Amino acid sequence: MNDKIKKSFDLTRQAGILAAKTLDSLNKIIQPGITTDQIDKFCLNYINDHKGYSAPLFYRGYPKSCCTSVNHVVCHGIPSNKTLNEGDILNVDVTVFKDGWHGDTSRMFMIGDCSIKAQRLVKTTYEAMMKGINILKDGIFLGDIGFEIQTHVENNGFSVVRDFCGHGIGKSFHLSPNILHYGEKGKGEKISTGMIFTIEPMINAGKFPTKTLSDGWTAVTKDKTLSAQFEHTVGIKEDGFEIFTLSQENLDQPKYDI
Ligand code: MF3
Ligand code: CO
Ligand code: CO
Repeated sequence: MNDKIKKSFDLTRQAGILAAKTLDSLNKIIQPGITTDQIDKFCLNYINDHKGYSAPLFYRGYPKSCCTSVNHVVCHGIPSNKTLNEGDILNVDVTVFKDGWHGDTSRMFMIGDCSIKAQRLVKTTYEAMMKGINILKDGIFLGDIGFEIQTHVENNGFSVVRDFCGHGIGKSFHLSPNILHYGEKGKGEKISTGMIFTIEPMINAGKFPTKTLSDGWTAVTKDKTLSAQFEHTVGIKEDGFEIFTLSQENLDQPKYDI
């Protein structure tokens, strides 16, 4: 790995760890009764207190500092005065900009006791993301990632959202290539050492079509079934990968009772 790649990995790791620590800290405040606006304010303060900027804030007119997607919201839920209730599943997506580089990560949070179906969806989504990550190394194809994710998801009876994808990331928030979470082995662009991108599968309990609400951001499942998502920012190495957005407290996924 050359010096330029090493530097890009070092700076992405710095931004990524701050994003992960922001999510880690949310575990102490997320409980029934909290509003998604309170979560948003907490994220912005945490990031700013640690010398970072929130990349979503004012990005293409986006009004808040994180995305909070509850139950049938697939992604890009806008924090509001909405209160979280026992049994809700929530994705919080934060992207930190620090020293010129980005780290983008999201996790699911379960509010109190959640249905078996909701827990299975969340667990399967996390497993699918990790199956996509664990094969990463120089020389594999983008289609290999999608294949791993889609296979695991469909084996569990759920569906992979087609309308949103992962993305290259670095000095800019969203870069090429698009990382599709479905696909065929050996298809698509070959990946190589030094690439940095996100893997962020959105998985629906029902069918995959989505629609965007009139606020221009909030994407929901068309059939109103639950949706879950996890996201990590990763870097490609000669014989493997690095995850830049790992929890610093082993909180990458919620605790299940299934
Ligand atoms: N963090 C999201 C992603 O994973 C993008 C959010 S853009 C926003 O790519 F404007 F909605 F915040
Ligand atoms: Co992303
Ligand atoms: Co994100």
